[in-house]
Amino acid sequence: MAQAKKSKRIAIIGTGYVGMACCIGFAEFGHQVVGYDILPERIRALQAGITPYREAGISESLLSHLLRGHISFVDELTSAITGADFIIVAVGTPSHSDGSADISAIETVVGLLSQSQLHGATVVVRSTVPPGTSEWIADELRGNANVVFAPEFLREGSAVHDFLNPDRVVVGAESRTIGMRYGDLFEHLGKPVLVMPLRNAELAKGMSNAFLAMKISFANEVANLCDDLDADALDVLEAVGYDKRIGRMFLQPGIGFGGPCFEKDLKSLISVSKGANSDSHLLSATLHVNNRQPLRIVRTLVEELGGSIDGARIGVWGLAFKAGTDDVRDSLALRIVEELAEQGADVVAYDPAIDGSSIDLPCAFAGSALEAAEADALLVLTEWPEFRAIDPWALAHRLRQKIVVDGRNVLDIDALSAAGIRYRGVGRRRNSESITLAEAG
Ligand code: UDX
Repeated sequence: MAQAKKSKRIAIIGTGYVGMACCIGFAEFGHQVVGYDILPERIRALQAGITPYREAGISESLLSHLLRGHISFVDELTSAITGADFIIVAVGTPSHSDGSADISAIETVVGLLSQSQLHGATVVVRSTVPPGTSEWIADELRGNANVVFAPEFLREGSAVHDFLNPDRVVVGAESRTIGMRYGDLFEHLGKPVLVMPLRNAELAKGMSNAFLAMKISFANEVANLCDDLDADALDVLEAVGYDKRIGRMFLQPGIGFGGPCFEKDLKSLISVSKGANSDSHLLSATLHVNNRQPLRIVRTLVEELGGSIDGARIGVWGLAFKAGTDDVRDSLALRIVEELAEQGADVVAYDPAIDGSSIDLPCAFAGSALEAAEADALLVLTEWPEFRAIDPWALAHRLRQKIVVDGRNVLDIDALSAAGIRYRGVGRRRNSESITLAEAG
C-alpha cells in the first residue's frame, strides 16, 4: 500500500463498520490513529484485537497495527482528540419511526467537541446525515475547528478494501482549501477527489445509495415480470447490463435489498423531500417494490406447496442480509421467516455466520445446511457460497416434497432438476419446462 507523504494524527469517534474501516485504512496509509467509542466493553475488546464485526482479514490487520503501535483505542474522548489533526465522526444515524434520520448521537458528539480545545483541527463527518446537518456543525464549531463532510461508500464485508480502493473521494466543505486538507489524505491513491459545498456532498451520498437501491428494485421488477411471462430474467438483465451506460453491477434480482443503509437512507431522503415539498416518486417506488419482494418469494413457495404452507416444515438457508456478514439489520430474510410462521409453517433456519441464540425469531435453528433441509421445502435467502457446493442428491434425499425456492438465484437449476428437485428461482426458468435454446438447428 502506497503511504501518505506526511503522517497525521487521526482521532476516530465511533468504532462501527465505518469507524473501524477508517481506523485500519488510515493506519495502512501510515497515519497515527486513536479510536474512541462510548461503549467501554467495545474499547476493551478492540484493545485486545477483537473486532466488533466479521470481515475477511480485518482481525489480522487490526492486530498487526496494534502491535506496531499505529492504532490505539481509548475510552475517554479528550485523550482521543488531544493533538489530533483530524477528528472523524462515525457514529450511527438510525431512523426515527417516521423515517427521518435520528442524528442525536451526532448532536451529542458535536456538543462535546464544542466544549473542547480543537486548535483548528479538521472535523470530518462520515456518518450519513440529512442535507444541512454539516452546515449546522460548522456553525457550532466555528473558530475552534473546520468541518468537512466526507461520505463513505463502504460495503459491509469489504469495508477496509473499499476504503483503500475508492472509485472517488467526495468531500463537502465551506472552501476548497479546507476540503483539500482531507482530500490530500487520499492524494497518493490517484483517484478523483471531488470537493463541493457541504450539502451537495450530503446529497451525493444519499443519492448514490438511492440509485443502487433503485437498480436492485428495477432488477426485481424485471424478474417478477419474467416469472409471469415464463422468461429468464438473468438473460434479460445481462443483455441490459452490458450497455455501458447501464452497467452490470447491482442488477441481481432476489429477495430485495436489506442491511443498515439502503432502506434507512431512502426513508431519510423521502422524509427530506417531503419537508422540502418536493416529489420523490422514484425513491418511494424503490422502497415499495422492495417491501413487496419478500411476499412475492413467500407466494412462490405457497404456490409450489399447493396453496398453503400451514403445518408444512420449511427449511431456510441464510438469515444475514448478504453473504460475508453476520449482520441481520433490516434483513428481508427475517421478514420472510416471520411471514412463514404467520402463515402456520414450522420453520427451521441455518446461517453459517449466525448463532440462533443471538436472535429472536419464530423458528428453530439447525446446525448445518443439510439438517435445515430436513423439511417439506427449502427457501434460500442469503447467497452463501457453501450452499452452492451442497450435493443436490444429498439435498433431494432430505427434502420431503423436493421443492426449492431459491430467493438468491445461487443454486444450479440443471443439477437440482437432475436430482429430481423442483426448482423456482427469482425470474428464472422453471426446471426444463421453460424455453431454453435448442442445442442444434
Ligand atoms: C451499501 C452500499 O453498497 C455502500 O456503498 C454504502 O456505503 C452502504 O450500503 P452494504 O449495505 O454493505 O453497502 O451492502 P451491499 O453490498 O450494497 O448490498 C445491499 C443489499 O442489496 C444486500 O441485501 C444485497 O443482497 C442486496 N443486493 C445487492 C441485491 O439484492 N442485488 C444486487 O444486485 C446487489
